[in-house]
Amino acid sequence: MSPDKPIRRVFSADTTIDDLKAYMGPFAERLGYKFNTETDFVDEVLASEIEILERDGDVYCPCRVRSGDPKEDAQIVCPCIPFFRDEFAAISKCWCGLFILSEIEDGADLIGVLEEVEPGTLVQVPVCRLDDLSASTPRHFKIGKRDIAVVRVGDEVFALSNLCRHAFGPLSEGFVDGYHVMCPWHGWRYDVRDGSTDHPNADVATFPASVRDGVVFVAVPLGRAKA
Ligand code: FES
Repeated sequence: MSPDKPIRRVFSADTTIDDLKAYMGPFAERLGYKFNTETDFVDEVLASEIEILERDGDVYCPCRVRSGDPKEDAQIVCPCIPFFRDEFAAISKCWCGLFILSEIEDGADLIGVLEEVEPGTLVQVPVCRLDDLSASTPRHFKIGKRDIAVVRVGDEVFALSNLCRHAFGPLSEGFVDGYHVMCPWHGWRYDVRDGSTDHPNADVATFPASVRDGVVFVAVPLGRAKA
């Protein structure tokens, strides 16, 4: 999920909401997005970003928590669309709903959450629509620095680390057999429900996954990726 080109904006301390609109609007437009049609919500989000700018020195997304790593955090400076295009396209909006796809006429149902959460808190990240998940083929998603394979079994969804513990084969390119996924490289099998395998001390991490209103969510802890 590389950006089309590196972007890094440093906004001056006296930036106003109108300044942000003037910069972000055309920027988002070039990427196929626009501000949410809920204008009060847009003003509320941008006011939060101004506060964050004054406090933390840049317009970080108000619904994301900074890791403290400047390089990593550059990906959540608003508008962060280039860094998360697959995820946003899947849900028709950016995380908080400040930006929605240009063709959407009414963004009222696409408003996100603005709560600040502590590092380590599990956050529900929308990754795709259930309809976009095949029952036989896992999908790979990059959430922050985590490589995650999402597997559909019937109407259930599961998320586990994408990296096989044998030689780091990509489980998202493996084969689904009931509640198991088989690594495409040398055939190690993992239970998607708990990440367990027959090989000692080689289980992979799992992440809570769920479906709401047809959208698949994966819950990941905020902060640096460990799995
Ligand atoms: S890398 Fe997965 S089985 Fe060898």
